[in-house]
Amino acid sequence: MFPAEYKIRDLTIRPAAVLAPMAGVTDTLFRRVIRGLGGCGLLMTEFTSSEGITRSAAKTLRYLYFQEDEHPITAQLFGANPAVMAEAARMVEDLGYDAVDINLGCPAKKVVKCGGSGLLRDLPLLEQIFCAVRRAVKIPLTIKLRAGWDEKSIVAVEVARLAESIGVEAVAVHPRTRMQGYAGRADWSIIAAVKQAVKIPVIGNGDISRPEDAERMFRETCCDAVMIGRAAASNPWIFLQMQEFAETGRYTIPTEADRFRLLIDYYRRIYAANPPDGVGKMKQFACWFTHSVGNGSELRRIVHAARTSGEILSNVESFFEGRAAALAGPSPVGAGRSEDPAYGPRQRVGCEATLGT
Ligand SMILES: Cc1cc2nc3c(=O)[nH]c(=O)nc-3n(C[C@H](O)[C@H](O)[C@H](O)COP(=O)(O)O)c2cc1C
Repeated sequence: MFPAEYKIRDLTIRPAAVLAPMAGVTDTLFRRVIRGLGGCGLLMTEFTSSEGITRSAAKTLRYLYFQEDEHPITAQLFGANPAVMAEAARMVEDLGYDAVDINLGCPAKKVVKCGGSGLLRDLPLLEQIFCAVRRAVKIPLTIKLRAGWDEKSIVAVEVARLAESIGVEAVAVHPRTRMQGYAGRADWSIIAAVKQAVKIPVIGNGDISRPEDAERMFRETCCDAVMIGRAAASNPWIFLQMQEFAETGRYTIPTEADRFRLLIDYYRRIYAANPPDGVGKMKQFACWFTHSVGNGSELRRIVHAARTSGEILSNVESFFEGRAAALAGPSPVGAGRSEDPAYGPRQRVGCEATLGT
């Protein structure tokens, strides 16, 4: 039932599983954890402001940093000005991304005024954006949409058809409305309806938390690929598990030691990279990831009580040393931080992307 691959024009995605863009989560560090574990065919950046990129705002350009082992990778843009979106897409192409994606799903108040799911209420403007971005780049163009603004205006099929007619080459569907936010259940029948309406690949998204859910989504909607968001943060092995499940009908559950190792490894990467929001990232990840580890509430408490990334790392290392001697190892605390392996050397690349600042 799991397709081995799908194609966005000449770009082969294998396996047919995509990491969903998640603001504040799917930066280069997290994406490489996912790629390293295996089973994920396509990575995506978190959504990135087209206005920020074209103003060469350092903070925004940082979101577009990626490393070679992340290919294939898509950059997701948001914005509502067709010319600015086109210019930003050109910059993404110049940076070496494999595809560019337009965000038509973000429900946040400050975003819907200038893009995101707000565009689902203005299809003439959306058409202009699609046309402008399509003309601007040669790399594959994709979109990711919600079902509509509210339950009275479900436009997913209409928007997917419009997009296809203009040359958009794949559509990811998160079948909740903007007004729903993340409440209620994703209505997978909308994914099925979009799949029936267009010939381009349809990527189904929403509420997959186990391999069995992915299998059911493929079966119920006939989608070409699945996209996974929140479950990837609480269980980064989910892509690997889906692959195993597709091949054998069963999958391995990570042990507590596996979870400890992954958490420490990820925290060490954040510590070494020293991104501006490193402490926030560590605390946020602890919320997602520690619920299924033994004494997780104590682990979250010591993470949230700490003030620096070094303090979080050493608290967590002590916690784990107390629980599993096997995890004891050399600590990078105090190691040199002048290099920034996550965000690369402090130099400009491509279209003036400023890294690690
Ligand atoms: C913390 C967080 C940040 C998100 N940021 C983005 C984003 O930048 N772009 C986007 O298209 N969707 C974003 N989403 C939505 C997810 O990509 C996905 O559509 C949604 O979480 C449903 O999938 P899931 O049930 O697998 O999590 C975000 C979701 C979460 C939870």
